[in-house]
Amino acid sequence: MSISCDMLVFGGTGDLTLHKLLPALYHLHRDGRLHADVRILALARKKLDRDGYLALAERHCRAQVARGDFSPDTWQTFAQRVDYFAMDASQRSDYLRLAQHLGQANGRVRVYYLATAPDLFEPIAANLESAGLAGDDARIVLEKPIGHSLDSALEINEAIGAVFPEARIYRIDHYLGKETVQNLMALRFANALFEPIWRAGHIDHVQITVAETLGVENRGGYYDNAGAMRDMLQNHLLQLLCLVAMEAPVRFDAKHIRGEKVKVLEALKPITGNDVLDKTVRGQYGAGRIGGHDVPAYYFEPNIDNDSDTETFVAVKAEIDNWRWAGVPFYLRTGKRMARKRSEIIITFKQVPHLLFAKGEVNRLVISLQPEESISLQLMAKAPGKGMQLEPVELDLNLAHAFSSTRRWEAYERLLLDVIEGDSTLFMRRDEVEAAWNWVDPILRGWSSYYRKPRPYPAGEDGPEQAHQFIERQGHSWWQ
Ligand code: BG6
Repeated sequence: MSISCDMLVFGGTGDLTLHKLLPALYHLHRDGRLHADVRILALARKKLDRDGYLALAERHCRAQVARGDFSPDTWQTFAQRVDYFAMDASQRSDYLRLAQHLGQANGRVRVYYLATAPDLFEPIAANLESAGLAGDDARIVLEKPIGHSLDSALEINEAIGAVFPEARIYRIDHYLGKETVQNLMALRFANALFEPIWRAGHIDHVQITVAETLGVENRGGYYDNAGAMRDMLQNHLLQLLCLVAMEAPVRFDAKHIRGEKVKVLEALKPITGNDVLDKTVRGQYGAGRIGGHDVPAYYFEPNIDNDSDTETFVAVKAEIDNWRWAGVPFYLRTGKRMARKRSEIIITFKQVPHLLFAKGEVNRLVISLQPEESISLQLMAKAPGKGMQLEPVELDLNLAHAFSSTRRWEAYERLLLDVIEGDSTLFMRRDEVEAAWNWVDPILRGWSSYYRKPRPYPAGEDGPEQAHQFIERQGHSWWQ
């Protein structure tokens, strides 16, 4: 399907646009996925003309797109689609200028991508409406986090919902656009093998780790008000948890998939009051070494308060109160400036009911989302030689090798195309976002009463010592 559209990106000079959105659109253009008539209009306050913006965009695209994928000729044709419009998104009068600049939609889809801070979501939607720019052909894309609490998310959802119907609101969580995340659904729902054992009777516990080596980069202003809980766990990690835990949807479509995910979020057992001391760990990186380089402590990063209490690491024991998952802990952890970049889901199965061999190892399913995309099942096998010496061996599915002739799409490529084509399956519905905040809010409140100071950890290590003690207290350990 190829649809003619105007893609308007608010926050057009920001990191997200320059590092992710434009490179994704460039790839879609290069692969012939965009209708010849798709126009991209970057919007921001900076006083730039079109040439100035294109120079900025090209510099970033060259740096972001893999060397073999960038071609100056392709860039020239791509650049013809791109334009820049300087405006203040909070100024109503600027939208009248924008409307004039755009002219009539004439049946073209209009996508407004809000790559901005959430406090601009409401004014942008209201201003679009008052300038007559929010008609039936208009869609709005909101970047996470939607608000910083349940109340603020409700307010944003209410305000956006007053202008755009839910079917035309796309709340993006780029983790849902990652190939392996979608593969998780294929693994669960296209293979009969797993369903009978995908439940409390057979699964001992689940771990979801999203570790980054990056620090806060130049996003200190945003990050210091968000922290790892709002930036990562409330959205990316909870979405992964939903895909592991949800029931099979009746159909593979937006309504049914999102309906099943929301049931998982609603079944999460609340963590309230001083429960936070037992069930969560918050940490903050100090100075350390990453990849052979010294890196500063979090509170010495640009735009961070020197006495900041913001967490850059969080670990939580989540429990799902339903028939399938009663009694199975889901350990979630995410952090910046960790030892290495990896995102993985580990499903640990229960031990065999009666031990015949000395080694009581268990089966594990390891789903690695990045840096490698792989799925491996750890089984016990007899080592060669006399006696029944058992060792774990891995049944490996390396997805990058299995599909080596096909280029792996970046999450934003897939999601941008979905918005243009009007498919909201991989976007968060309003009730999902609210249910996620509903679970996260009491933890944040518990922290402010009982757990203000995050535990320090040196950059380049796997989080604070307390995160290891916390999981060991439950009789488990983080899978390495
Ligand atoms: C973003 C967060 O949503 O995800 C960033 O705001 C984080 O802080 C990023 O670095 C991680 O994404 P990925 O795709 O690199 O795992």
